[in-house]
Amino acid sequence: MIRSFSNCLLLRLHWFGITRLFIPGMLLLLCFCACTRQTKQTYTIGFSQCVESDAWRKTMLEGMKRELTFHPTINFIYRQADGNSPKQVAQVKELLQKKIDLLIISPNEAEPLTPVVEEAYNKGIPVIVVDRKISTPHYTAYVGGDNYEIGKMAGQYALHLLNGKGKIIEITGLPKSSPAIERHKGFTDALKNYPSLQVIHQVNGEWLNQTAKSEFSKIVTQYPDVNLVFAHNDMMAHGVYEVYKNGTQPQPAIMGVDGLPDAGLQFVSGKKITATMLYPTGGEEAIRIALKILNKQTFVKDNLLQTTVIDSTNVRIMQLQAEKTISQQQQIERQQLMLKEQKRIYNNQRTYVYILVTSLILSIILGGLAFYSLRENRKISRKLQKQNQEILDHQAQLIAMSAKAKAANEAKVNFFTNISHEFRTPLTLILGPLEELLANNKIHHTISQTHTLIQKNVLRLLRLVNQLIDFRKIEVDKMRLKAAENDLINFVSDIIQSYKSIAQKRNIDLRLITKERQLPVWMDINMMDKVIFNLLSNAFKFTKDNGYIHIYISKSDNNAIIKIEDNGVGMSKDAITHAFDVFYQGEYENYKGSGLGLALSKELITLHKGTISVNSEKWKGTSFEICLPLGNAHLEKEEMILEQEQETNQAVLYEHEKIYTADLKTETTSNPDIEEIPAEKEHTVLVIEDNADLRHFLVNKLNPQYEILQADNGQSALQQAFDNIPDLIICDVVIPGKDGMALTSIFKNDFRTSHIPVVLLTAKTAMEQQIEGMKNLADAYITKPFNITFLQQTIKSLLSNRARLKEHFTGELPTSLKTQTIGKPDRKFINEFSALVESNLSNEDLTADAICKQMGISRVQLYRKVKALLDINVNDYILNTRLQKAKYLLKNETCSIGEIASKTGFSSSAYFSNVFKTKVGVTPKEYRLG
Ligand code: FRU
Repeated sequence: MIRSFSNCLLLRLHWFGITRLFIPGMLLLLCFCACTRQTKQTYTIGFSQCVESDAWRKTMLEGMKRELTFHPTINFIYRQADGNSPKQVAQVKELLQKKIDLLIISPNEAEPLTPVVEEAYNKGIPVIVVDRKISTPHYTAYVGGDNYEIGKMAGQYALHLLNGKGKIIEITGLPKSSPAIERHKGFTDALKNYPSLQVIHQVNGEWLNQTAKSEFSKIVTQYPDVNLVFAHNDMMAHGVYEVYKNGTQPQPAIMGVDGLPDAGLQFVSGKKITATMLYPTGGEEAIRIALKILNKQTFVKDNLLQTTVIDSTNVRIMQLQAEKTISQQQQIERQQLMLKEQKRIYNNQRTYVYILVTSLILSIILGGLAFYSLRENRKISRKLQKQNQEILDHQAQLIAMSAKAKAANEAKVNFFTNISHEFRTPLTLILGPLEELLANNKIHHTISQTHTLIQKNVLRLLRLVNQLIDFRKIEVDKMRLKAAENDLINFVSDIIQSYKSIAQKRNIDLRLITKERQLPVWMDINMMDKVIFNLLSNAFKFTKDNGYIHIYISKSDNNAIIKIEDNGVGMSKDAITHAFDVFYQGEYENYKGSGLGLALSKELITLHKGTISVNSEKWKGTSFEICLPLGNAHLEKEEMILEQEQETNQAVLYEHEKIYTADLKTETTSNPDIEEIPAEKEHTVLVIEDNADLRHFLVNKLNPQYEILQADNGQSALQQAFDNIPDLIICDVVIPGKDGMALTSIFKNDFRTSHIPVVLLTAKTAMEQQIEGMKNLADAYITKPFNITFLQQTIKSLLSNRARLKEHFTGELPTSLKTQTIGKPDRKFINEFSALVESNLSNEDLTADAICKQMGISRVQLYRKVKALLDINVNDYILNTRLQKAKYLLKNETCSIGEIASKTGFSSSAYFSNVFKTKVGVTPKEYRLG
């Protein structure tokens, strides 16, 4: 058990170990999978835009974003400042706080933004300046068009357009922004050698359409002769166009900058303005350079973008190119979308592959683990099986050993019991002739005294053998209580009677003192006998002549108390402590006992769940007190029996009286109960006994009174019984062939012998056997060593009971029949015939024919024989017997008239009553009442 538990634990630990290794392994694997997806490093690029409301800025942002789609790992943070320099400074600071890896800035104005750009640069954050410039060399790279070149190109185009002569108005962007400054300078430088070509007025359009429109409209009327307006960008140029469109003055040539497809190119092709200078946004380029910087690749610090003049001569080509570019861009965007989708699919598939691979690896690992653990489990279960087998073998060995030990013990006990029983037979054989000799008055007094001495010692030996057997039984736990409810007062009085004559002779005041008239107590009388006899014998042993022995019986709470008090020699304190010890022989040399009596008494009382105690004072007296619980709640079911199962008590009491009082008797007494031996042998007794000595002894003792038949085995016993139909059978329980119990059963179940009383005789005293004997319908059960007088009395009373019963049935038969002396064979015939009738009384079909068949004789033979022997007709005999039994039942049993009619073979109560009234003169009811 413990081993299998520990193996279970082992298994669990084993699994625990596997899972302990397995779970972190799996986590690592998953981490590894997750990590392999993030191979490229991520960067954060911050982009600070000065304004975003116009198309050019939007184009720039779109260009950046498009380029960024090729670099999905880049984190892009975008801010725009609505053309407000302080706002842009604050936004750059915020970006710096966000720990950007690179800053792209298109400053609103150079001066206000310079410090914050330097701050970033000094912190080691690369700075790419786009479009507009700042007033410091502390930046990493610049991307944008060459604004001086644009201004110059615009001036040269104006020269060409106006042929070196005319008036020009210049619409500038924010005066502090670098494109405005550089474009103005380039323009001025291109015109400086042509004094006929004059810039007659400058308007600050702040790069905005609306500002330019409103500012220009304020001055337009002042310059009706203006030939050309140069706006620093297409939006402001469009504002100028609108002023002229809405006014009355003729529109001069208008030039802008930027050349965006949706703005400048359309204005030129729509003849709203004359020309525009291409000014690329540089969004894509800025991102490309940023990545080079971040990836530590070589890059060019100042990246100036190409420019050109677009007018009516090339606008169409430029538009086509732009459209193509747009469509290519759209194509790229679509491809990027597709790429994105492919990437998404790829990512999904990669995830599935990861899951699959992970599952596969897991399956392999789990499979491996399962295989490993299966192998381990098999190993453990093989080990367990081996251990179990070992345990089972061990168990089987133990069982075999304990069976052997039990058998050996039983053999020992049996040997002990048998040898004790063996003592009893010779003792019986000594006791029998002894009692015979003692009963013979002719024997000389001195010889008689010797005989008494022998008798005393034989009885003492018997007592010791009995006590040893009892003790042995208690020791091996075979002594079982068989308690029934008995009147304690009556029971103790009967025992006291056995001591009356001794008390009288020794002038001992022997008294039973009690207030109770009856006291029912559940007890095993065969055990309690031994206790009371033993205590009384002890009291007589230690009490001097003229003393007293008082027996008190009382009821206290739920107990019956028996106190046996004497004024004998008493006991010392030491003797009191050892009084109930086995083999303690007491302190008086002259009165040494076996040391068994009191110890046995204590055991027997304990079996009754009672107590026994002693109180004594040296030279003053002793009192033993027994306390027995009342009722039967304290007893187990199997410790209780029915009262009728104790029928052998008289025989046991007789034996106990003999053996317990033998020591106390001082002289022999002749047995007055033995009656004169009758001269005529009226009855036949069959003696079945295999022990020749005992059989001869019995034959000798019974021969004077009875005709004796003998058998020494089962077979001859059956033969004798059925051949002679004796009047009584004495049968030993243990005989060769069939045992006594089986023989009794055969006798009692055969109509020819069922009426014969059977006395079973055995050396075994076990109550179970007595009960078994009774079950087999034995009429008496006498244990060896038996008292021959008791046996004779038993035989006598059984025969007279039988005769009395028969009298009931045959009461009205002719008296001659009862007194007539019948010969042996005829008596067998009559016995058989009457037994057949009696055992079939309840059978209403019992006819003369049926009887002939059973007895194996003819109808004529039957009629003649019955008439000759009984002087009665067969049918009359049957009817008489029926009525006699009915009368007996009416007087002695409580069953109904109907039941009696059926028990006596009448087909109905009415018919029964009719016949009864005719024959008896009264109805059965009246007979019963009368
Ligand atoms: C847009 C814009 C462009 C111009 C550039 C100069 O905001 O005004 O039209 O070319 O800025 O920085």
